Amino acid sequence: MDDGEDALQQCLRSGVAFVVTGGARGLGLAMAEALVEAGGKVYCLDRLPSPDDEYQRALERVVPEWGGSLQYKQLDVNDTAALNRLMEDIAAENEGIQGVIAAAGIQQLTPAIDYTAEDVNKMLQTNYTGVFMTAQAAARQMFKYKNRGSICFVASMSGTIANKGLLSAAYNSSKAAVIQLSRNLAMEWSSVKENGEGGIRVNSLSPGHIVTPMVLKNFEEVPGLRETWSQANMMGRLAETSEFKGAALFLMSNASTFMTGSNLIIDGGHTAW
Ligand SMILES: NC(=O)c1ccc[n+]([C@@H]2O[C@H](COP(=O)([O-])OP(=O)(O)OC[C@H]3O[C@@H](n4cnc5c(N)ncnc54)[C@H](O)[C@@H]3O)[C@@H](O)[C@H]2O)c1
Repeated sequence: MDDGEDALQQCLRSGVAFVVTGGARGLGLAMAEALVEAGGKVYCLDRLPSPDDEYQRALERVVPEWGGSLQYKQLDVNDTAALNRLMEDIAAENEGIQGVIAAAGIQQLTPAIDYTAEDVNKMLQTNYTGVFMTAQAAARQMFKYKNRGSICFVASMSGTIANKGLLSAAYNSSKAAVIQLSRNLAMEWSSVKENGEGGIRVNSLSPGHIVTPMVLKNFEEVPGLRETWSQANMMGRLAETSEFKGAALFLMSNASTFMTGSNLIIDGGHTAW
C-alpha cells in the first residue's frame, strides 16, 4: 500500500485482472460481479460450455463507467495444462493477475457406507486438486509479474462441521482439506522474498447454506431439507449469493492486506451455537 493511501479508497484498482473459477453461476458469479462493480477486469472460468442465464443478466448490468469487465472462458479446473495456459494468457494481457477466487466445486450426497473409491477421487480431484492447481497456476503468474496478489478458496462451513443429517462425507472432507491448504500456501507465499517474488495472501471463505443451483439440487434430493437448513442457523433463513459480495471485495482488495492463512466464516451463526 502506498504511504498515506487509504486502504478502502484504493480498494480495487480499476482494470486489474481477477480470475473466478466456478464463475458461470451461483456463488462464484456473485463474487465476480462484486469485483466488476468495483472496477475489476474479471475472468469467469467454468467447465460449462456456456454460462447460466444468470451470467447474461450480470453482464447486462455491467456499466462501462465502472472501468471493469466480465469475460467468460470455458475451462475444467481438472485440466491442469489448460489451466496454466489460460492463466498465462490472462496474465500476459494484464501484466499479471491481482486476485483469484476458487469457487469451482461439486457435491454428491451418498451414504458413507456406499461411497465408491472412484466417487471419492472425483470429489477430491475437483474440490481439492482443482483448487490447489488453480492457486499454483495463478501464483506462478503472480511471481512472474511480481503482483502482490490475493487468493481466496471457497471452502464451506462443512469443512469444519458435519451437517446434521446430510450424507456428504467426501464433500465435507474436501472442504476441510481446502481450509488447511490455504494455511500452508499462505505460509509459503505470503512474505516477499529477496528476488521480489511473493507477497501473495491466501485465505479461505467458509459460507453457510446459500440458495444456489447446487443447493436447489440438494432440496430436490432430500425432502424437507430447505426447512431444516433454514432453522439450523441463528438467522432462521438461507443466505443469498449477494451476501458474499462484500467478502469478495474485502479479501481481494487492500482492505485485507494483513490477512493471510485465515478462514472467514459467514454462516448466519450456524456453527456458533
Ligand atoms: N451453496 C452453498 O450453500 C455453499 C455453501 C458453502 C460453500 N459452497 C461452495 O461454493 C462454491 C460454489 O458453489 P455454488 O453453490 O454456487 O454451486 P454451483 O453448482 O451453482 O456452482 C459451482 C460451479 O462450479 C463449476 N464447476 C464444477 N466443477 C468444475 C470444474 N471441474 N471446472 C470448472 N468449473 C467447475 C460448475 O459448473 C458451477 O458453475 C462451491 O465450491 C461450493 O462447494 C456452496
